[in-house]
Amino acid sequence: MDTATLEARFQARIDADERIEPKDWMPDAYRKALIRQMSQHAHSEIVGMLPEGNWITRAPTLKRKAILMAKVQDEGGHGAYLYSATETLGITRETLIEELLSGAAKYSSIFNYPTPTWADIGAIGWLVDGAAIMNQIPLCRCSYGPYARAMVRICKEESFHQRQGFDILLQLSRGTEAQRAMAQGALDRWWWPSLMMFGPPDADSKHSAQSMRWKVKRFSNDELRQRFIEFTVPQAQFLGLAVPQGEIDWNEFHEVLKGHGPCNHERLAARRRAHESGRWVREAALAYAGKQRDRERDQHREAV
Ligand code: 3HC
Repeated sequence: MDTATLEARFQARIDADERIEPKDWMPDAYRKALIRQMSQHAHSEIVGMLPEGNWITRAPTLKRKAILMAKVQDEGGHGAYLYSATETLGITRETLIEELLSGAAKYSSIFNYPTPTWADIGAIGWLVDGAAIMNQIPLCRCSYGPYARAMVRICKEESFHQRQGFDILLQLSRGTEAQRAMAQGALDRWWWPSLMMFGPPDADSKHSAQSMRWKVKRFSNDELRQRFIEFTVPQAQFLGLAVPQGEIDWNEFHEVLKGHGPCNHERLAARRRAHESGRWVREAALAYAGKQRDRERDQHREAV
């Protein structure tokens, strides 16, 4: 069957809302687009552990420490699900991680900002995970089966992440003048970068049109951004916080994507250090798995 017929049949399956599974025929461009988006998503989850991780030792109470540890562990698990889902497309996790560590791969711009106060941890949960939920719920209906299924589980955990962040800011917003000011400062720092999470304006989005034809992306960047704003502004009002007014600074967005954000270098350096210090664990696990395989092979030989 020629490629044109195969592609027409593939698009007809997408149009009929069928799920595409790893063993199904798919255009190379579809495979490449999914590897791009899914690996960036996985990298974002792993790098996303860093801004909050540095507050685990400084959380104000044991309860907040335990909640934050659980959230950061969840993010690591989200990265693992997404790397596994990406591997179904015929690329190895080692390749993906090397692309991140070498700086060749993107991850979400949002994680290149610092977390100077405890209120920033609340703002990340409330705004960043809130934006992630807005973006990820439609991905549960993505045409690629492994990605959609990973999203279902991840979205359930994101809801807990968003609530705990909102709860941190609720407590601060009902506290002392200084605590209210801390909460307002965090909203001022995280509002615009959270809106940038949804991607560039639709007019500048180079992937959206095709991504929507393939039902990977179900809504445009601006549609989801607007939904997030409409959903979040009443919450800010409930907290007694003022939402920053003005326009998104797309120049800042592009500068952060180019690696010139406040924490880009720090984040990659931290990931490189973590990867290097975990090398012995990976080598030991591979050595053990190899010995286990040899043992099972020898036992099998003796049994026949
Ligand atoms: N940060 C970094 N790069 C971004 C970006 C952002 N916020 N928004 C867009 N980009 C990049 C795109 O990757 C693309 O670059 P590329 O061609 O080199 O890959 C370019 O900007 C053009 O943008 P497009 O709109 O054309 O790209 P997409 O169609 O891929 O849309 C997206 C961008 C909406 C982020 C989409 O990729 C997406 O929905 N990804 C899945 C969700 C995701 O990755 N979220 C990241 C946060 S994860 C998270 O928040 C974890 C939570 O637990 C805290």
